[in-house]
Amino acid sequence: MNISVVGTGYVGLVTGVSLAEIGHHVICIDINESKIEKMKQGISPIYEPGLDEMMSRNIEAGRLTFTSNHKEGFCHADVIYIAVGTPEKADGSANLEFVEQAARDIANHITKDIIVVTKSTVPAGTNDRILEIIEKNQIHNVKFDVVANPEFLREGSALKDSFNADRIVIGANSGYAASIIEKINEPFGVPIYHTDIRSAELIKYASNAFLATKISFINEIAAICERVGANVEDVSKGMGMDQRIGESFLNAGIGYGGSCFPKDTKALIQIAGNVAYDFELLKGVVNVNQKQRTLLIDKLNERFDTLADKRIAVLGLAFKPNTDDMREAASIIVTERLIEQGATVITYDPVAMESAKDRLHSDILYAASIQKALTDADAALILTEWDEIRNVNPIVFQSMKSPIVFDGRNCFSVETMKESGVEYWSVGR
Ligand code: UDX
Repeated sequence: MNISVVGTGYVGLVTGVSLAEIGHHVICIDINESKIEKMKQGISPIYEPGLDEMMSRNIEAGRLTFTSNHKEGFCHADVIYIAVGTPEKADGSANLEFVEQAARDIANHITKDIIVVTKSTVPAGTNDRILEIIEKNQIHNVKFDVVANPEFLREGSALKDSFNADRIVIGANSGYAASIIEKINEPFGVPIYHTDIRSAELIKYASNAFLATKISFINEIAAICERVGANVEDVSKGMGMDQRIGESFLNAGIGYGGSCFPKDTKALIQIAGNVAYDFELLKGVVNVNQKQRTLLIDKLNERFDTLADKRIAVLGLAFKPNTDDMREAASIIVTERLIEQGATVITYDPVAMESAKDRLHSDILYAASIQKALTDADAALILTEWDEIRNVNPIVFQSMKSPIVFDGRNCFSVETMKESGVEYWSVGR
C-alpha cells in the first residue's frame, strides 16, 4: 500500500516508521522543513528507543520518505493517516485546528480515491467533520472514506507497543474501508476490534481516562495508607491479584503527566459537558492529580521550617522514564515551587536536561551526574523512576549535607534506605 502520514509528532512518526517496517511504502509529511531535512537523514526529532535504527533501515530500503510538500506527499497515496496534534485549549477542550487544516490540505490535493484514517485523538463527531471538510473543499471529484483508528502507544516503548499492542481499534461506517485498514495492519499480528466511528473515537478517551482514574485512585489510597500505617505497594499488589482489577497502573506516586492523560481527561470532561453530562468522577481524578504533583513540596515543608537557605537536588525531570518529553512533567511545577520558596535547585536527568532547559526556570542548575547533583545538597527529590536512579547504591546519598530523600516514585525499599542511614520519605509507605 502507498500510505501518507500527515504530522510527524510522536504518533505520526512512530506510525509511519512501523507501517514501513511491515512493508508499506510510507511518506511522512510535515510543514516543518528543518525537521523534514533531519528525518531524511534518519535522525529522529524525538528520543524513542530503537526509532533511529528502524527509521534508517526503512529509508535505506526505499520504503520510508519525508516531505514538506503536500502535493508530493499525497499524489501516490491509497490511504492518508492524519496524525497531527490536538492540544488542549484554555477551557480544556481539544483544539482541532490542525486536524481541520489537514482535512483541507487533503481536499486540495487528492486526485484519486482514498481512505483517510484518523490517528489523532479526537472528540466524538470529529471524523464526520473531516468528511464534511473534504467534501466541501475537494477539487477533484474522487471517492473517499474516513476511518477512526486511535493510537494507544506509550512513549518510551512506542515501537514495542506498535508490534505487541493489545488491540487495534478500527471505527468505520463502511465495510470496504474497514477491510482495507484491517489488511494494512494484518502484519502486526495484533487483535483487531471493529466498531463504528463514534465508538472508536470514544474508546481512546475512555481508555486514557480509566487509566488516569486508576492512578488517582491508588494515589488517594496511598494518602490513607500513610495515615493508617499501611503500605500502598502491598495494598496495590493485593488488589491487582484480583483479575477484575489487574496489577498495572496501580503505582502510587506524584501523579500522571505527559502529552495524553492530562489533556485527554480534561477533554473528556468537556465532551461530556457539551452533551449536558457532568462527569463528576473524572473531575475528581483531575483534581487529585493536581494535588499529587506538589506532594513532595508539602512533605518538604513539613520537614524543614524554611527552604530559603537550602540546596535541593532534583533527580529525574521527564514526565516518565525512557523519554525526554517534558510535557506536563511534575518537575515543572515542583521546581517552580522550590524557586518561589528561595531554594537553590540542582537537577539531573539522564536524557531530558536539554528539553528541560526550555521549560524550567532560568535559575535552575544542571548537574552532569546523580553524584554531582547530590553533593552538599540538603535534600534530594526523586521525580522520575529512571533505571539509572533506581539502581544507584544508596551509599551515594551520603555525599549530601544530610542524607534526606523525598521519593515521588517509590524507587527504593524502605528497609534498604533505613539500613543505609538515609532519612527516607516515600509515597504511601
Ligand atoms: C499514555 C497511554 O498509556 C497510551 O495508551 C496513550 O496512547 C498515551 O498516553 P504515555 O503518556 O506515553 O501513554 O505514558 P504512560 O506510560 O501511560 O504514563 C502516563 C503517566 O502516568 C506518567 O506520568 C506515569 O509516570 C504515570 N503513571 C503510570 C503513574 O503515576 N502510575 C502508574 O501506575 C502508571
